[in-house]
Order: sequence, then structure tokens, then C-alpha cells
Amino acid sequence: MSSYDVIVIGSGPGGYVCAIRCAQLGLKVACVEGRDTLGGTCLNVGCIPSKALLHASHMLHEAEHNFAEMGLKGKSPSVDWPQMQKYKTSTIDTNTKGIEFLFKKNKIDWLKGWGSIPEAGKVKVGDELHEAKSIIIASGSEPSSLPGVEVDEKTVVTSTGALELGKVPRSMAVIGAGVIGLELGSVYARLGAEVTVIEYLDAITPGMDPEVQKVFQRTLKKQGLKFVMGAAVQGTEAMKTKAKVTYKLRKDDSEHVLDADVVLVATGRKPYTDGLGLDTLGIEMTKRGQIAVNAHWETNVKGIYAIGDVIEGPMLAHKAEDEGMAAAEVIAGKHGHVNYGVIPGVIYTHPEVANVGETEATLKEAGRAYKVGKFSFMGNARAKANFAGDGFVKILADKETDRILGAHIIGPAAGDLIHEVCVAMEFGASAQDLAMTCHAHPTYSEAVREAALACGDGPIHM
Ligand code: NAI
Repeated sequence: MSSYDVIVIGSGPGGYVCAIRCAQLGLKVACVEGRDTLGGTCLNVGCIPSKALLHASHMLHEAEHNFAEMGLKGKSPSVDWPQMQKYKTSTIDTNTKGIEFLFKKNKIDWLKGWGSIPEAGKVKVGDELHEAKSIIIASGSEPSSLPGVEVDEKTVVTSTGALELGKVPRSMAVIGAGVIGLELGSVYARLGAEVTVIEYLDAITPGMDPEVQKVFQRTLKKQGLKFVMGAAVQGTEAMKTKAKVTYKLRKDDSEHVLDADVVLVATGRKPYTDGLGLDTLGIEMTKRGQIAVNAHWETNVKGIYAIGDVIEGPMLAHKAEDEGMAAAEVIAGKHGHVNYGVIPGVIYTHPEVANVGETEATLKEAGRAYKVGKFSFMGNARAKANFAGDGFVKILADKETDRILGAHIIGPAAGDLIHEVCVAMEFGASAQDLAMTCHAHPTYSEAVREAALACGDGPIHM
């Protein structure tokens, strides 16, 4: 029986980051992973492959729509799907091998197989039992199921199947206008599929700033995506080469059927804890099936911790990473901390959508007085030159103190721009602090500064 200070179960962004930080802090660490490669859902069948397809399909979109106007002549490229799949696979490979390299560099043992916890202090992988002073569960999440919908990962697929379709479908029905549905829906729309998104609510991307929702949906419509809103999916029926989706419109209860070559089910994810033995251990769960933890990510069983998608909070790779680092620090006797008020969310469509902190709705609910500074990318020289004038930056600041409370961006590189606001928020900055910071010209970042100026005496270019 081998013994460790820490055994991490799961090698996704939460698990592998936690294992590396534990090793850096001088602990003897092993990480259990049952897949053939490290990196979990994010690297193998999530964030990374979808970003490769988003990038490739965006390039095609640019060639089809903007090249001629820039004076770039010639025929737009056609899609070589097998090659695009190879590009996606090589992107995955370089990233997963990178984690393997980091494990070796940090002397982390990879225990290959699926782990379970027969009792506190012990982890079983295959027939082998290992000892650990601390165990960290970082086993991630899996797609939630929907009544009446049977996934075969060929015709009716989750995000996993959608990343490796045999060919670009002529038509795709997407159930759920959340992050996954819109990212993958826009990939296939750009590659030529007729994409229809069926959403239960009346607005896309629930919880997001309503103005962003509106501009976002309008832009996606311009890109060819169709939307059926206020529609509850009743079920799907997979046939040989296509599938039927049945849905009911909430406004009049009328039933409709949509045919599509492929149906993508993207109605949320749920914690993945199968086979860990949590029941036997008596680990407390929340009402929503997540592992309950205290402020130090420790469960009710001493020495067993949990981080990432298996606990409460947004299911985001970077939230899991932060928890992984913080939990490692707690275990090493330091003061791990995660600022849950400053966790950015990004949707990697084109334009990108990003947000951090409070929304107007949460501020109103809390009865807090706030001001809004908004700036459109139409007033940003760089964005106009790059055909990226759709969208805006919105900063919310405290009405009295001017302290930045949140930001909502739709526009070019929104996923990068948001971090300027995140850093400002971490330092408790005011909108004026941001507005007084010199920003290079011409950059997209100037739009963030202009929105900060709009919280005070007003923006210059609007
Ligand atoms: P989601 O929770 O973002 O969206 C699901 C959507 O499906 C909601 O709009 C919901 O109203 C709708 N819906 C639910 N049941 C329905 C029904 N019966 N008929 C029609 N619509 C229905 O879930 P999604 O997109 O599957 O993503 C899962 C998780 O993965 C999220 O927590 C997300 O944050 C994370 N993720 C994050 C990414 C990123 O940060 N870029 C990328 C991919 C996933």
C-alpha cells in the first residue's frame, strides 16, 4: 500500500491544479484519473476542443463575410471536416500531454483507473489500496438528462458527441440556449448547418444582463441561428439518419415537432460522483445533489475535501482551479481563499460575452444604489476597423462610493477585456481609478476605460 499526503480524485482543471499546488507546497501527491489522458472534461471533451472548433469556424466566417471588404480576394475556403477534427485532436493532445509533463515535473503520481473511497484516509484504484492523510474529490460533472430524451451520442448528442460528429449536419436542433448550446450551435451554424435553438425561457443565457441577452440574441440571429423561445421540450425520437424533437410552447400549450439531422441536448450539467462510495462514507450532500463543504472545502468527513463542479457554485473550469489552489493551501496549513464575488464568466461565441460580479437585477434585489457606465464598441476605433463594432461594455458602480460592483461585456475579445475589471474589483477600485488609468490607443480595452468614464463625467468618444 502506497501512502501519500494528498490523493486528488479527478484530473480536470480543479484536480490537476490542486495536485500541482499541493506538490509545490511540499506535499507528497497522487492524482487518480480513469481516462486515458489527463485534463478531465475541459481538456478532453469540453472547453479546449470546443475552442478549437470555435476558432476554425470563426476564421471561415471572417473569410466569407469580411475578407472581400478588406481587399482580400479569392474564393472562401471550404470545410475539410476530417482535417478540422485532426486540428481539434492535436489541440487536445498538446494540452493533455502538457499536464502529464507538469505531473512529472512536480513528481505527482498518476494513479490510472477510477477511484473510490472505501473509508476516510483510503483510496481504492482498481485492486490497489492507497493511503492518504487528505483526499480531495474533484470528479467534475456530467450532462444532465432530460425526460423523454435518450442520448445515443450519434443523432441525439450531448456536447461530447457534438464535438465529434461524423460530418457537418445539414440541420441541428439545440435544446437549451445556455453556454454549451450557443457555443456549439454557432460552430455548426458557421460551418453551414441550419441551427434552431429551442429554449424553455423567454430569454437566452439565463441570469445574464438583459441588455447583453438582447444584443447577443440579435447578433446570433444575424449569423443565421434560429430561436424558438418559451418552449418546453417534451422528448426526442432518434431515427436512422435524423431525429424529431417535440416541444410545447408555454404561451398556448400548442405542440410542435422539429426534424433535424442532429439534436444537441444542452440543458445543464450535474455533479459526477458515481462509484466514489459517498453514501457509505456518510458524506453530506446538498438538496441539489452537490457535495456539501465548509468554508475550507472540507466535507463533514474529516480529511475529505471537495472542489469544482461537484460542489455548489458556477460550473466553471477557472472556479474549480481557484478552489483547487485554495484547498491545497488549506491542507498545507496556509490560508487558501477564493473570492466568489469576482469569478468571470465567458461565452466564446463571436462576439464574445463576458461578465463579472453583480448584475442590475442582483443589485436591485439587494436594494443597493448603483450607477451604470456604458460604452458601445461603435465608438471604438479598433473595433470599427476590425468589423467588431457590435456590442458594448457596461460597468456597474456603487452610487455613493464609485466602487466597481460588476461588468458586462459583449464584443470583441470580451473574455480577455473582463479581466481588467476583475483585477480592479480585487483591489476594490472605483470606476474613476479605471478611468484614470492610461489605456493604449487603439485597443479594445479603451472601451472598458470609456465605460468607466461613463460612470463619472462621461465618455469621450460617444
Ligand atoms: P446552462 O445551464 O448554461 O443552460 C441550459 C439551458 O437549457 C437554460 O437556458 C435552460 O432554460 C434550458 N432548458 C432546460 N430545460 C429545457 C427544456 N426542457 N426545454 C428547453 N430548454 C431547456 O447549461 P449548459 O449550456 O448545458 O452548460 C452546462 C454547464 O457547463 C454550465 O454550468 C456552464 O457554465 C458550463 N460551461 C461553461 C462554458 C464556458 O464557461 N464558456 C462552456 C461550456 C459549459
